[in-house]
Amino acid sequence: MTPADPRRWAVVLGASSGVGAAIARDLAVEGGYDVFAVHRGNWPDGAAEVEAAVTAAGRRCVFWTADAGSAEAAAEGVARLRAVAGAQSVGFFVHSLASACVGRLAIGEDPLHPRQLTRTFDRMAHSFVYWAQGLHQGGLLAPGGRLLGLSNLMTDEVVRGAAAIAATKAALEMYVRHLALELGPLGHRVNLLKFGFVPTAAAQRTFPAEAFERLQTVMQRGTPAGRLCTPDEVARFVTFLASPGAEWFNGATIDFTGAESQSFFDQLVYAGR
Ligand SMILES: NC(=O)c1ccc[n+]([C@@H]2O[C@H](COP(=O)([O-])OP(=O)(O)OC[C@H]3O[C@@H](n4cnc5c(N)ncnc54)[C@H](OP(=O)(O)O)[C@@H]3O)[C@@H](O)[C@H]2O)c1
Repeated sequence: MTPADPRRWAVVLGASSGVGAAIARDLAVEGGYDVFAVHRGNWPDGAAEVEAAVTAAGRRCVFWTADAGSAEAAAEGVARLRAVAGAQSVGFFVHSLASACVGRLAIGEDPLHPRQLTRTFDRMAHSFVYWAQGLHQGGLLAPGGRLLGLSNLMTDEVVRGAAAIAATKAALEMYVRHLALELGPLGHRVNLLKFGFVPTAAAQRTFPAEAFERLQTVMQRGTPAGRLCTPDEVARFVTFLASPGAEWFNGATIDFTGAESQSFFDQLVYAGR
């Protein structure tokens, strides 16, 4: 893969664990990007591994420990980024935050509280806009700079307890389409990558332990490839999305699910036979 312009930085929100960590590594190692990485500090070993991989690839790695999910955080993050990277330096931005509240909407003893819904929307959807605003208005986006959100199958399937996740992913999809329309004429690209189940910390938090085990089996069986997708596979494709060959993607929800949810009906009817 052609290395990025040496002045180009990738910003990865949620870079210390799961998919975001794999993306940060791959964008540096294969894509040639310097990395500005944000997390809250819950996975210090993961952050250290990312930093080691990025620096071993000869790229710069700057970690900022903060809750990235608010307009104030986006403003501060952009200011910090400008200090280390300078104007027009960001070639690629990835929003890989996972901190949604899980719970039913109306039934049970503890339905989702308005504060939980607001927090989930801020972190999982609105913050994509806040960072896009900050990067664009702050003059940080490099010519042809690209923004990427990450989505899942929750917008297709109705899974108990996952309403807030599903709703924020639906909102994210609309934000992506509108930002693509606004920023496209300036040469920028904004897309959403939708992939299937990857067993990460966030995926584990979303389901009770026993359901999580069952889910892995169901998803594995339901995927025509017969296995689950890995963070590294997602990361490799993200690095492609940051490359010149992906220039024409804009406002797209890109299906990288491996047809994971397309055969649930078949599974029901034939029970895996
Ligand atoms: N795993 C899947 O099956 C799957 C499938 C499709 C799409 N996705 C999407 O992929 C993205 C990443 O998910 P994942 O499964 O890789 O999650 P993960 O392993 O839990 O990683 C989430 C990362 O985000 C950071 N983070 C969370 N909230 C943050 C906040 N408010 N501010 C700053 N950093 C924050 C976490 O570190 P700290 O906790 O230290 O902040 C961590 O580095 C999410 O958008 C998710 O919806 C996941």
